[in-house]
Amino acid sequence: MSMELFSPVTDFAGRSVHSQSQHWCTPPQYVDAVKRVFGGEIELDPCSNEQSIVHAKYEFKLPEKDGLVQEWDFASVYVNPPYGADRTRGTTIRNWLAKCSFTRTEYGAQIIALIPVATNTLHWKKYVFGDADAICFLFDTRLRFLVNGNTDNKGAPMACAMIYWGDFFCQFETVFKEYGAVLSLESLKKNKKMDRQMQMSLFG
Ligand SMILES: C[S@@+](CC[C@H](N)C(=O)[O-])C[C@H]1O[C@@H](n2cnc3c(N)ncnc32)[C@H](O)[C@@H]1O
Repeated sequence: MSMELFSPVTDFAGRSVHSQSQHWCTPPQYVDAVKRVFGGEIELDPCSNEQSIVHAKYEFKLPEKDGLVQEWDFASVYVNPPYGADRTRGTTIRNWLAKCSFTRTEYGAQIIALIPVATNTLHWKKYVFGDADAICFLFDTRLRFLVNGNTDNKGAPMACAMIYWGDFFCQFETVFKEYGAVLSLESLKKNKKMDRQMQMSLFG
């Protein structure tokens, strides 16, 4: 896809991220790990590109298929979204996380998203905490993504995490504990549900 669609330098959670980061592809160890959680195969990669080694059964690629417009009605979805703002389409990483959350609720899909750690942002507060089922905060000091098919030896400047929406926490934990600190978000989900019920009883 054309890089001009993205601003050359994007403000991301208070940091400047060069537009090249929009195209950082998942390195092999994480493609394998995600496949193991999903029982061997990723059904959908909604934001793929020509260099990606994810090789999901179904892929959405620009310009033919806008992954934010298509339905994600698949059993397993792996999302490594573009990290900055897409000024042409008026979207950001928040839209990708909103779609993960919606897809989990609507289709009961198992979803894993690889995203930068930014716990103070609206998208983390709304779509990770109280919504997703688990997180793996990755240990990589600088995650080495693939750029144009090669390992980027400089690595990413920000910490990254795998976010999991799904029913198989034990499977997620077993696979990802090798790569980072795995936490269940079950109690946050319960609290959010209780808050909602309380609000409804007070104002409903
Ligand atoms: C960070 S890369 C990840 C590529 C691949 N999923 C992987 O993990 O190897 C994100 C890719 O999403 C693509 N992309 C950006 N906006 C998109 C959209 N609206 N629909 C589909 N793909 C998009 C870009 O071409 C970019 O290369």
